[in-house]
Amino acid sequence: MGVVVTRGGPETGVFNSGHVPVMLNETIDLLAIKPGGRYIDATFGGGGHSRAILDASAPDGTLLALDADPAAIERSSGLVRDFKERLTIVQANFARLADVAADHEFDQVNGILFDLGLSSFQFDQHERGFSMHADVRLDMRLDPDAEGPTAWEIVNEWPPEQIADVIYQFGEERRSRRVARVIADRRVESPISTNAELAEIVQAAVGGRRGARIHPATKTFQALRIAVNQELDVLRTGLVAARDLLAPGGRLAVISFHSLEDRIVKQFFQREARDCVCPPDFPVCNCDHKSSLRIITRRPVSPTDEEQRSNPRSRSARLRVAERI
Ligand SMILES: C[S@@+](CC[C@H](N)C(=O)[O-])C[C@H]1O[C@@H](n2cnc3c(N)ncnc32)[C@H](O)[C@@H]1O
Repeated sequence: MGVVVTRGGPETGVFNSGHVPVMLNETIDLLAIKPGGRYIDATFGGGGHSRAILDASAPDGTLLALDADPAAIERSSGLVRDFKERLTIVQANFARLADVAADHEFDQVNGILFDLGLSSFQFDQHERGFSMHADVRLDMRLDPDAEGPTAWEIVNEWPPEQIADVIYQFGEERRSRRVARVIADRRVESPISTNAELAEIVQAAVGGRRGARIHPATKTFQALRIAVNQELDVLRTGLVAARDLLAPGGRLAVISFHSLEDRIVKQFFQREARDCVCPPDFPVCNCDHKSSLRIITRRPVSPTDEEQRSNPRSRSARLRVAERI
């Protein structure tokens, strides 16, 4: 994966966030941003949280921002223009957070944010290939140069049992076997090429409740995206790297959008908040584990009713925060 680094530099564009940052005030408050601090935004997206972190850490706080999607980096020029050398932005998957931070001499940082999933740009710009309604080739890689598999390969080449497992595990779709069977039947005729085609096939397989709030293919699309980008594995790797980069008292904030992600964050925080992680039936501790985090949010923070009304995409968001001991 290529790494694009933009730091300060010429005024090359206008900052334009078509993405509304979720739980912005809550995140900034709970990260306890302070002037002069060093921060990492592992998921730059439209830059809304990055901008707020830079504002709150003025006049001389610094931020290292990452995004796997080159299109997010291209949109960052306005922010780079506004904050100059206070902002370093890198195209990279946060699975590589430890290396990227080392390359830019970012360690002992005061706060790290992961705002998981996709930005509105990715959902709304059909050519980015995440919308169920798009007539684009099935792909779903955040970084178009990342190694496969693509969604096309999974849907057209994987055995139906494996497709069913993906849809069940990562989409929590009860009718995963039926969806996989219908996909397998249809691809015999000709490959399933586009998002819109797949959405229609899944809809035919699972039906749709009248007046249902979400499209019947939503769970299948979520599952494929998670599988293509190995989202749960990279989250586990990113969380460990983030914990190791924090200075004592530094805070780690994670906004997740579905229960699979939230469970990983919750279990990571719980484990890292304990001194002993031996199985409960062990009479004597032999794990040598030492707690590294203090949990700040006993329960996950949800968007206010008002935010959920004004930004329906925020509805499923959950924010958890922990502090490095
Ligand atoms: C919800 S958006 C972030 C929005 C951002 N906080 C804002 O205020 O505009 C998530 C972003 O994270 C990026 N992303 C998702 N998984 C990633 C990963 N493993 N590594 C790096 N970036 C990732 C996506 O490309 C997307 O741009």
